[in-house]
Amino acid sequence: MESEIAGWVSVAARFVHVLAAIMWIGNSLLFTWMEINLLAPKSNGSGEGKENPVLGYLDMLHGGGVFHLQKRILDPKAIPVPLHWFMWQSYTTWISGVVLLVSVFYIHGGTALLDATKTGIPGGAAIAMSVGGILLGWLVYDSLWRSKLKNHPAVAIPVSLLLIVAAAWFFNQFFNGRAAYLQIGAMMGSFMSANVFFHIIGNQKKYMAALEAGLPHDPEYGKAAKTRSLHNHFMTYPVLFLMLSAHFPQVTSAAWNIPILAVILLTLMYGKFLLNSRNRNPNWLVSLFGSLILAGILIAVMIAWPEDRIATPPRSASGGKAVEEIVIDPNVQAGAKLFVSQTCATCHQGGSSQLGPSLNGIYGSTVILADGSRVVANEAYLRSSILQPQSQIVQGYPAAMPSFAYLEPEQVDKLVAYLKSLK
Ligand code: HEC
Repeated sequence: MESEIAGWVSVAARFVHVLAAIMWIGNSLLFTWMEINLLAPKSNGSGEGKENPVLGYLDMLHGGGVFHLQKRILDPKAIPVPLHWFMWQSYTTWISGVVLLVSVFYIHGGTALLDATKTGIPGGAAIAMSVGGILLGWLVYDSLWRSKLKNHPAVAIPVSLLLIVAAAWFFNQFFNGRAAYLQIGAMMGSFMSANVFFHIIGNQKKYMAALEAGLPHDPEYGKAAKTRSLHNHFMTYPVLFLMLSAHFPQVTSAAWNIPILAVILLTLMYGKFLLNSRNRNPNWLVSLFGSLILAGILIAVMIAWPEDRIATPPRSASGGKAVEEIVIDPNVQAGAKLFVSQTCATCHQGGSSQLGPSLNGIYGSTVILADGSRVVANEAYLRSSILQPQSQIVQGYPAAMPSFAYLEPEQVDKLVAYLKSLK
């Protein structure tokens, strides 16, 4: 019942999350685009008074007419009504994101976050680490950009990026690759929403209050908000990638998943920078393709790098029995990796996306099929479950498992060895 409710909650939350995020990011990209493309005012005599000088203008063809847009400083004596603010897209995205985090990862005691081949810590500790990471991450990021360092972006930006990659590395010591990627996405997404709440809207409120109190226009409010706006702008592509990464198991579960994450973050941020520079940088397209190809090559090498050349971290002694068994047999260990990289884990291991039966203790057990017949889950059954899942459907489950007939025979052997080891 708990799983069922969590499943439906996550369906609703995911839909709202995607919708709100599209509205938020769409807005944010359009506003930045307008800002970049704003033309300098034609002359000072554009009909506006000293109180509200024009900062720039722009004409955009859309829907059978021209939007003539003018950016100017607000005249405190003539505040337009209605004056639109943009914040609920961001808050809705964050709130639905929290619901998703709980209904997909924190449910079932947090086990969906963990990787039993890496650690033996309990699920509760994983949830605490995940929540703590979001809160602590914000405190560190916010303090860094409130400190004097904010005036030295050439230092503050690399430091921020290094801290993000370090956090990813830390979570990857305990979490499965998918959860580690999502944790970083949730942290950066939370920073973006908190930037809107505390800095962007916060400063807009102060700015409006000052105007209403009759104080002159103070550009400081705008400046403070703008830095965080810019951060949000450069975080959009990476956060989108991280949020979608559950669909890229070959990336999240690669042995080099964290260096790959670093390359992806940098490439997407640099790509956004190049896209923004296209009106003043004639080489933007060459640079963009160049960096994408370079990143592609780097990632391909990291994915293909033979795993036995990677120094595996020493296993913790608290790993428990199941973990020790996995470590002993290399076939089982390889099978465990395939189980994640071939997305079996998504459907068979806890969490609200679990569509299939749990496979713990399956080997040698008696399975009741949809037609009421019984079979013993021997090796042949496990093999055919992977290669021809539609031939024998387990009672009470949808016939939703795709065929994995494309796997190499050795890969199937490894998966079967792994399934047999599950107690
Ligand atoms: C899209 C979701 C999905 C994915 C991905 C998936 N499965 Fe399944 N699996 C199911 C469902 C649903 C069932 C139960 C219905 C059936 O028997 O086909 C099932 C059944 C099974 C069974 C039989 C279980 C039993 O209790 O008899 C085995 C074994 C199995 N899957 C192994 C795997 C392996 C190994 C992989 C990865 C190579 C995998 N599955 C990937 C959804 C999935």
